[in-house]
Amino acid sequence: MISVFGSANMDLVAYTAKAPKRGETVTGRAFSTIPGGKGANQAIAAARAGADVSFVGAVGDDAFGPVMRASLESAGVDVTRLRVVPGSSGVAHIVVDDEGGNSIIVIPGANGTVTGVSEDDLAVIRRSGALLLQLELPMEAVVEAACQAKVPVILTPAPAQKLPRELLAAVDLIVPNEHEAEAITGHADPGEALDALLDLVPEAVITLGGEGALYGSRSGERLRVPAVPVKAVDTTAAGDTFVGALAVARAEGRPQEEALRFAAMAAALSVQRKGASTSMPGRTEIDKALR
Ligand code: RIB
Repeated sequence: MISVFGSANMDLVAYTAKAPKRGETVTGRAFSTIPGGKGANQAIAAARAGADVSFVGAVGDDAFGPVMRASLESAGVDVTRLRVVPGSSGVAHIVVDDEGGNSIIVIPGANGTVTGVSEDDLAVIRRSGALLLQLELPMEAVVEAACQAKVPVILTPAPAQKLPRELLAAVDLIVPNEHEAEAITGHADPGEALDALLDLVPEAVITLGGEGALYGSRSGERLRVPAVPVKAVDTTAAGDTFVGALAVARAEGRPQEEALRFAAMAAALSVQRKGASTSMPGRTEIDKALR
C-alpha cells in the first residue's frame, strides 16, 4: 500500500491559444472544473498504476469537496483519512495554452488547515510501503509527517520553496523538475543539480519534461531515461503522474531503470489528455504502451 499526505484542489482550467500578459484580456477556447491537487493527483496516479493507495488530507464543506472525494474513490483510493473542514476547498486557477504548457495559482483553502498529522493518520502512513509528500500543505505538517512516517518518504518539492533541514533528513527520494532542482541547489545544469541533491538526500530523480529524467543515488548509480516522444495537449499533473507511477514500480521491486521507464510512459500518456485526475493512465494502458 502507498500513502499520500497532501493537497486536494479543484482545478478551474481555462484553455486558451496563448496565456494573457499582464493587463491583457484574451478570449479562451474552453473552461473545465477538474479534480486536481498534487497530493490527490499522485494518489490517483498510483492507484490507476496498480497500487492500493490511502489518501490523507482535507477538503472544504463546499460544493467541490464531495466531487474531489468521489474522484479519489472512483480511482479506488481509500479516503478514510480525508477530512471535511468548514470553509472552501483548495482551488487551483490554471491556464493551459495551445502548446500544452500551463501556469497555476493555488489557493490552499482546506489544505491550509492541515497543520499536523494525527495518530490515526500516522497509523495509515506506517502501514504503507512508502509515503508520498508534496508542498501544498503547510510545511510544518509535511515535516511532521516525514519525520514520523517510519516508512520510505518520496518528496515532490513543489511548489518550490525553502526546504527545512529536518525535512531533507527524513526524505529518501526527492523528485523535482529542473526548475525546482535549480531552486533547491542553485545549479541550472541538471547533472550538477543532481550531484548537489545527493548531498542532501540518498536518491534523486530530476524530471526534464521533453528531455526525460535523470536518476542518481549516493551509492553512485546514475541513469538517464529518455522521454517518450508524444504531442502534449496538457502537461498539467505530468509530474504527479510520473511520481505516482514511479512509487508503484518501486514498491513492486522493479529494477531502477524499468521503474523510471514505467513512470516516464505513464507521464507521456497523461500529457496527451486534458486535465489532472482525468488524464492519468491505468495499469493496462501503461503496460501495453511499454510493450
Ligand atoms: O501538479 C498539478 C496540480 O498542481 C494541479 O492539479 C493543481 O491543483 C496544482 O496543485
